[in-house]
Amino acid sequence: MAVVLITGGTGLVLTEKLLSLGHEVRILSRSPLPGNLVKSFYWNIEKKEIDEKAFEGLDHIVHLAGTGIADERWTPSRKKEIIDSRVRSMKLLTSIVHKKKTHLKSFVGAGAIGFYGMNTTEKIYLETDYGGNDFLSDVCLQWENAYHKIQEYSDKTCIVRTAVVLSRQGGALQKLIPLFKSGLGSALGSGKQYMPWVHINDLVSVYMKTLFDPEYVGIYNAVSSEHITNTDFSRQLARVLEKPFFMPAVPGFALKVILGKMADMLLTGSRISNQKLIDGGFRFEFPGLMNALEEVISEK
Ligand SMILES: NC(=O)c1ccc[n+]([C@@H]2O[C@H](COP(=O)([O-])OP(=O)(O)OC[C@H]3O[C@@H](n4cnc5c(N)ncnc54)[C@H](OP(=O)(O)O)[C@@H]3O)[C@@H](O)[C@H]2O)c1
Repeated sequence: MAVVLITGGTGLVLTEKLLSLGHEVRILSRSPLPGNLVKSFYWNIEKKEIDEKAFEGLDHIVHLAGTGIADERWTPSRKKEIIDSRVRSMKLLTSIVHKKKTHLKSFVGAGAIGFYGMNTTEKIYLETDYGGNDFLSDVCLQWENAYHKIQEYSDKTCIVRTAVVLSRQGGALQKLIPLFKSGLGSALGSGKQYMPWVHINDLVSVYMKTLFDPEYVGIYNAVSSEHITNTDFSRQLARVLEKPFFMPAVPGFALKVILGKMADMLLTGSRISNQKLIDGGFRFEFPGLMNALEEVISEK
């Protein structure tokens, strides 16, 4: 069984999946907790402190750490934190891998479909397309560039460009559900922007494939198959929650007043292709939105 170190592993459910298959899971955290099943190790990115014991006998690393991109307004200091928590953390990680002469069987780094830019077009973006020209694209580009150096120390390296994750454990749905339950759910802006999404089970499967399957190498868009606009997403969410969907769309300018430039994340969106995964034999458990929403919401 493999030894897997996850940075920021307190977020996604990848840990549970790895444990269920008998792997040893270690987590690098700013606030490690004692635990028998998962060993938690301390790191502090600003102080460049890291518990080197986490790297002993290591087979794989998954880098998920990063402060929430949509959690706060993008002030200059927040922008710096968004970048530093991903890029400086990666540099620290790589320096210890180098120092300890660790050789990995695989390295998988998180990324985001924000790479392609905050715009609404009819283009369907592939992994080979260029990035966009805005703050989010820049974050994603710097994040991905920070993964270059680790390639020297790993048999293979993958990057998972993730869409909006549908999970009962957190993320976008947790913010939307109370609003829709109260009958106040509505589309955002024109509602015509696409909203790429992925069910958490499928995202975990993408991480498992990129970690353990030698055929999976390079960048993958973790996006489900059904392309859906913001209006359709909102309508389907209301239907699954058995709530009416009649509220007028939230005007784009109002969101911009409240959220500043971050509003563009909600008001724009293009389609993103998952063809590379499909061509590699990946099968989505939740290719369609309705089933994905029903599964997530039924477990609440
Ligand atoms: N969820 C989504 O919809 C989505 C979509 C696209 C991309 N992604 C990316 O996928 C990765 C994992 O997503 P997630 O939803 O699991 O994220 P999450 O729940 O926000 O967890 C991220 C982890 O990063 C660590 N972290 C937070 N702020 C940090 C900081 N300033 N410095 C260092 N570490 C910090 C935290 O670990 P500790 O508190 O233990 O240190 C936390 O567990 C993230 O990088 C995210 O941007 C997520």
